[in-house]
Amino acid sequence: MEDFNQRIECYRLSYMPIDDDKDRNLSYIKIFDVGSRYLVNQVQDHIQSRIVYYLMNIHVTPRSIYLSRHGESELNLLGRIGGDSSLSTGGHNYANAMATFLREQNILDLRVWTSHMKRTIQTAEALGVQYEQWKALNEIDAGVCEELTYEEIQANFPEEFALRDQDKYRYRYPKGESYEDLVHRLEPVIMELERQENVLVICHQAVMRCLLAYFLDKPAEELPYLRCPLHTILKLTPIAYGCTVESFYLNIEAVDTHREKPKNVDITRNPEDALQTVPEHI
Ligand code: F6P
Repeated sequence: MEDFNQRIECYRLSYMPIDDDKDRNLSYIKIFDVGSRYLVNQVQDHIQSRIVYYLMNIHVTPRSIYLSRHGESELNLLGRIGGDSSLSTGGHNYANAMATFLREQNILDLRVWTSHMKRTIQTAEALGVQYEQWKALNEIDAGVCEELTYEEIQANFPEEFALRDQDKYRYRYPKGESYEDLVHRLEPVIMELERQENVLVICHQAVMRCLLAYFLDKPAEELPYLRCPLHTILKLTPIAYGCTVESFYLNIEAVDTHREKPKNVDITRNPEDALQTVPEHI
């Protein structure tokens, strides 16, 4: 409360009050008592109406958002991207460990969301609670590269592989998606996350990077390289102007699926340079 009052005093130095009569030609929104009433004046374009919509959806009730990838999948073990495979034995163990973790956290009215993919649904099933499936949470569509290993992508589509390394955020897989596409696809999920209180999102590597980048305000260049290891839950707790992050590794071994940007991203690079940062797999 003290901090809040001090902030208001600081604002007084540089802000001016809006007068609903004299300023009736200005575009503005007034929010009364943290969202119990709104006054929306002269909303003129698409961006303004989206801002109004956003401001009407956010709240300040204390809560946490838990982000996790699904348990390790059969295709993760083989180093293959995409697909719709089942959990590996380790993946099932993680799902059970997650159930214990959540019980211990004793979270009030936790909502659980998954994608439409088998591996997130199997992970949620182990929790023994109701969950909601969102198609928008499905993993990035790798198009012609679905179910290939990074080595196979280099062998079959070396130019594409290099182009992705040059601009991983904007690169769109042939017949698939880019991270930028994914960010747009996730917008309704993010809006609903803003409206909700405690939520656990069981998702995928690329999707989790996008959600994390939103809550931690990370730039587009960093987003596709954010570390979201398997079998680790991130707990995000909103505070004034940001979020605190706690990371819980549940101690169930899993393969590493993170491929760092290699030094050489030139189209003419040799395969060895292209594959320099590929994580180990079977
Ligand atoms: O490897 C697991 C995975 O979730 C793939 O399904 C997906 O294509 C990939 O990660 C996304 O990570 P990156 O953008 O680093 O290739």
